[in-house]
Amino acid sequence: MIVLGIETSCDETGIALYDTDSGLLSHALFSQIEMHGEYGGVVPELASRDHIRRVLPLIKQTLTTANLNLRDVSAIAYTQGPGLAGALLVGASIGSALSFALKIPSIGIHHLEGHLLSPLLSTPSPIFPFVALLVSGGHTQLMEVCGVGHYKLLGETVDDAAGEAFDKTAKLLGLGYPGGPALSKLAKQGNPGRFKLPRPMLHSGDLNFSFSGLKTAVLTLTKKHEITPQTRADIASAFQEAVVEVLTKKSLAALMHAGFTQLVVAGGVGANCQLRENLSRQAELIGATVFYPAIEFCTDNGAMIAFAGAMRLQSSGTREQQGYSFTVKARWDLGLLDAC
Ligand code: KG4
Ligand code: ZN
Repeated sequence: MIVLGIETSCDETGIALYDTDSGLLSHALFSQIEMHGEYGGVVPELASRDHIRRVLPLIKQTLTTANLNLRDVSAIAYTQGPGLAGALLVGASIGSALSFALKIPSIGIHHLEGHLLSPLLSTPSPIFPFVALLVSGGHTQLMEVCGVGHYKLLGETVDDAAGEAFDKTAKLLGLGYPGGPALSKLAKQGNPGRFKLPRPMLHSGDLNFSFSGLKTAVLTLTKKHEITPQTRADIASAFQEAVVEVLTKKSLAALMHAGFTQLVVAGGVGANCQLRENLSRQAELIGATVFYPAIEFCTDNGAMIAFAGAMRLQSSGTREQQGYSFTVKARWDLGLLDAC
């Protein structure tokens, strides 16, 4: 089965072709970062309009790269939510229209399920069950994953997501949008020992997180000190250290809680080198292994949607679309997904 995946939930248009026999055939991505950078964040209306311009050319590009044509596609998977409603509607309407025209099934995929399953695209890949740390711009969650659709929430952020904290802190430090990659680059030149920031909820006794206080602590530092390039780098480094330590300790606690030995890290913040190094080192000490998606599949992409669609259609196709109607879900709780 060849599945065409369409991701348009936010500011990246991602398209991919996944074959259940031979794996990922091709993928293409257009990032709108430059366009939104001018405004310091995503402008929803501009995002939707740009997705409209990009989806069809990117589908053509992925088909050409894979040496296929539309008639070779067996099913369509599109991101149904959560995300920006207008942006989601672009992928959902094009995906549904193609499925009606080609008389093939289509399936709406939960964006976070795409992230959650994305490490399965790499080799070696984890085997169910595992604990997943989902760290994106909108979510920070620890999940117990026992199979496709079998997700149990262990803990989550009570305020800002980790990526959001990176973005807001980067803004305070005068770095561009999105701030995560820029802040982590700057942190490499910083002295992590100069400033000590709090480790929020580290000893809360549960698996929840809180990141909004860190941003405030950074704001206080920026007011107290003259912001030289070195001070900015030192603050960036202290911030990253704090986030990485909390994410690492809570992830290991989640592994112990679940009694599992495999940890999967997914979502944009999973591209952070310090997080990767720290998690892998600490996990090894307790006999656990950490699996990451390829860096290019940490942030939003079509491959994870095509893959999640293929997994669902292969195992049961329970949410396979019927009739001519489709919907998107700007808000959608991962725990409400059907199991396969
Ligand atoms: O998963 P994603 O592409 O989009 C959402 O679904 O939210 O994640 C984007 C987030 C942004 O907040 C971005 O700043 C963060 O991931 N991010 C990073 C890094 N690369 C992306 N944060 C820290 N370090 C990075 N290297
Ligand atoms: Zn995402």
